[in-house]
Amino acid sequence: MKIAILGCGNIGTSIAHGFADCDKINLKELTLTRRQLEPLDTFKQWGIKIHSDNKKAVKESECILLTVGPQQMVELLEDISDALDPKKHILVSVVTGVRIDQIRKYINPKVQVVRAMPNTAAAIMESMTTLSVESDFDQAGLNKVKQLFNYIGKTLVIPEELMVPATALGASGLAFFLRAIRAASQGGTEIGFHAEDSILIAAQTAKGAASLLLDSDHHPESEVDKVTTPRGITISGLNQMEHGGFSSAMIKGIVTSAEKAEQLFKDKE
Ligand SMILES: NC(=O)c1ccc[n+]([C@@H]2O[C@H](COP(=O)([O-])OP(=O)(O)OC[C@H]3O[C@@H](n4cnc5c(N)ncnc54)[C@H](OP(=O)(O)O)[C@@H]3O)[C@@H](O)[C@H]2O)c1
Repeated sequence: MKIAILGCGNIGTSIAHGFADCDKINLKELTLTRRQLEPLDTFKQWGIKIHSDNKKAVKESECILLTVGPQQMVELLEDISDALDPKKHILVSVVTGVRIDQIRKYINPKVQVVRAMPNTAAAIMESMTTLSVESDFDQAGLNKVKQLFNYIGKTLVIPEELMVPATALGASGLAFFLRAIRAASQGGTEIGFHAEDSILIAAQTAKGAASLLLDSDHHPESEVDKVTTPRGITISGLNQMEHGGFSSAMIKGIVTSAEKAEQLFKDKE
């Protein structure tokens, strides 16, 4: 499938990096757009087409990824609507808080639309991407989009009403876990490790913890039980963190992010 990524900023370039490295996509069939092109120079050197003409990018592609900010979305949809052909194109929006029915108001409503919520680990083919479609969506089209995101991580198809919560848990979630790793490394430095050793130990330990869950169907607490002994070191540290609000802070942060994500896009109703 020929792919265009329109509005290649943080998430667009992360996806482009993943596509470039996954060995499944012909780089000559990938087009990236944004208005200021300098940040995309590296992609040009790899043979990927880069320019600022969204309409042209749509015409030369089949799968169109929209990766602009919520407040740039209407302008982009109005720009490309004439070039969209329901028989040829699948539109994939990663834009937070914009529903499929809102997107359809600005384009030919027969064009198939998928909502996707990846994260920036797409750049290293480790994204968690949730996908959502309306009930009339063609299953073959969904499978094609799923396959694309499977090249750059894991995917899960969810009901559209969960897409905003998925932004908080999966996309913003990356920042939450990165901050947790930084906090662990700060603790590590206080108890004697140089900063770079501290980050290595904290990050590899976090990766191991995540892999324990992903590679088995174990519950996190069953893995915690294996590390905690009665009157032991781990449980005393863990309980101290809980007294400081560790789980509570994570839960409240995720709920707050989800509430904020809901309010980002206001269309011209
Ligand atoms: N960052 C994440 O981790 C993440 C994860 C999942 C979803 N998202 C969602 O993805 C969207 C983009 O987020 P982001 O962090 O990547 O934002 P961003 O870095 O600001 O990227 C948006 C890009 O769109 C370009 N742009 C704006 N209007 C355009 C137009 N008319 N035609 C072509 N390009 C245009 C801008 O570049 P120019 O000014 O040069 O045109 C900008 O680089 C948001 O809705 C966000 O919620 C983000």
